[in-house]
This record gives sequence, C-alpha cells and structure tokens, in this order.
Amino acid sequence: MKVSWNDFVEQCRSCQACPLASTRKNVVIYRGSVVAPIMFIGEGPGANEDEQGLPFVGQAGQLLQLLLDAQGFQMKDYHIANVVKCRPPENRVPTETEAATCKKLLGTQILIAKPKIIVLLGKTAYTLFTGDKSAKMTEIRGHIFEKNGYLIVPTFHPAYILRNNNERVTLWNDIALVRRKAEELGLMDPLPETPAMPTSRPSGK
Ligand code: URA
Repeated sequence: MKVSWNDFVEQCRSCQACPLASTRKNVVIYRGSVVAPIMFIGEGPGANEDEQGLPFVGQAGQLLQLLLDAQGFQMKDYHIANVVKCRPPENRVPTETEAATCKKLLGTQILIAKPKIIVLLGKTAYTLFTGDKSAKMTEIRGHIFEKNGYLIVPTFHPAYILRNNNERVTLWNDIALVRRKAEELGLMDPLPETPAMPTSRPSGK
C-alpha cells in the first residue's frame, strides 16, 4: 500500500516498536528533500539530533555538510536519514534488533524518497543493507554496486573522519564519486570547476 509522506511521519512519531522510544526526545526522520536522487544513510541520532529532531546536525553532520556544500550539493539533491530514528542511549551502536525493527520504516522512507543512489555512511548502515557483517570499510568503500535497483556507495562515517582527519580526503573522494555518478545519470549538473577540499574542522558539539 502506498503511504503518504505525512502518514509516514505520523507512523514514525508514534512508533513504540523498540525500547529506544522510551528514551528519545524526538524521532529523527530526515533532512534535505523528501524526494531526492541521492540518499545518505547514517547510523543513528546523537544528542544534538535527538534535541533538534534532525539527522546529522552535530559535529559529524557539520563535517558531512561542509563536504557536500563544497562539492555543490544542494538541498534538492539529497535526503539524509539514519538506520534508526531514535537516539541509542550514550550514543551506542543500535542493536541488531533495533536496526531490524526500524528497517521497515526505513524501507518505506526509501520508497517515498525514490533515490537512485544510496550512500551508506559507515558499517552499521552497510550491514543493515547487505547483511554482511564481516566486510571491512577500507575494502568496500569507494566502490559502487547495485542492489534492489539502487546504486549503493559505502563510505566512511563522518564521525570516523572527525577522529581520523587524515582520512578526510577518502570521504571527499567518495563524495566526488557519488557526484560524478549523479552527473553521468543526469541527476546533477556538472560543476564549472573542480572544487577544493575544505580543511577546516567543525566547531561546537
Ligand atoms: N551520526 C549518525 O549516524 N547519524 C546522525 O544523525 C548523527 C550522527
């Protein structure tokens, strides 16, 4: 059955399907455009995201945004979401059960967002999508593969880049790969010149 975006948001906000519901302040659904050619999927909301009800607004999100802006991504180009919509306490990794429970909502979200390219930010998102628990991000990142009609691009989680700034260029290159693919498919217009990677670090929490 086709679900409208408003009904989907209501389903998310009223969800009590796992224990994360009892500790959340806000259900964190998305930011960007409801329908977008590129979807970025992270792990789960942190404290800032829980507070604001928006994904990737803390330091990791600011870094992601810095790189997206520098490569000319506009809000209409992306839909940003997470494997789980409620903050795991102490920012722990969502359990398999929590991720599996939330997967149904994420599935509906993907159907509504209609992305052509899905960027999996980090291992949690990659494992949820592929069921592959043993893959090493260093080996799978930077490659594009197809699954269920979507082009999948796994890459490092921006929080990892905050801890390992020497890998920033890798995330930058993977975002450039996404951009090139989007241009090739006519989903984004080419940039007039090659952008330079910003080197500043996000401030704040
Ligand atoms: N990390 C994530 O995986 N998602 C967020 O929304 C914020 C930080």
